[in-house]
Amino acid sequence: MTKDSQTDKLKKVKKMYSFWGRFPSLYSAQDIITFLGRAKTIRSLAVKKMGLKRGDKTLEVACGSGRNFPYLVDAIGKDGFILGFDYSQEMLDASKQLSKQNEWSNIKLIQGDATQLKITEKNFDGVVSILGISAIPDWEKALERCHDVLRFEGKLVVCDARLFTGFLKFLNPLIKVIYSKFAAWDPSKNIPEKMKEIFGNVELENLNFGTFFIAVSVKKER
Ligand SMILES: C[S@@+](CC[C@H](N)C(=O)[O-])C[C@H]1O[C@@H](n2cnc3c(N)ncnc32)[C@H](O)[C@@H]1O
Repeated sequence: MTKDSQTDKLKKVKKMYSFWGRFPSLYSAQDIITFLGRAKTIRSLAVKKMGLKRGDKTLEVACGSGRNFPYLVDAIGKDGFILGFDYSQEMLDASKQLSKQNEWSNIKLIQGDATQLKITEKNFDGVVSILGISAIPDWEKALERCHDVLRFEGKLVVCDARLFTGFLKFLNPLIKVIYSKFAAWDPSKNIPEKMKEIFGNVELENLNFGTFFIAVSVKKER
């Protein structure tokens, strides 16, 4: 991808999520459709697959309005640490508000492009991205950066959506138009394959009639 087209795509992401960030309840409501009513189950399963322990240090890439924070906080407890990273300041403002309401004091939020992931913290015990990688224009670089900031044996968990296969395939053109226009979703990215290339391993679980997957890679010596 050329630098120009990437910059254009990032501008689009910024505009789109500036809207969602100002209406976080609306964003949460669309979860019902996106996850076919199984948002809690799938989000909590993705976090469970990180294998976190109390006191662990975690990073959520493209954390958005903080929809996964409850599961992360549950896993790491009060002594753990969560870094939420997102390109949209408005989405981060919504997640700040959520953290305040819940009195979560161990969450730090940083605005930036995940392709560069300018953070000082390293050696995370786990990194997660839910519906994030598919929205990041230069997603392959972002996955590389996730690998860089993990500790040895730390896990990257990516949970994302896919198009229908089988008899509901006829809905795909419509789904593609809606979700690319309103969520910057690009289902053509083969995320698990790229994770395998970077990490040398990936474990995949398909959910919701194949419209969701959770991919887990473990950082090994390269
Ligand atoms: C569909 S939302 C997912 C939010 C959240 N992870 C969730 O589970 O609800 C996609 C998020 O990706 C973020 N995003 C897109 N491109 C990004 C980039 N280059 N760097 C960081 N975040 C990005 C958007 O700002 C948005 O908050």
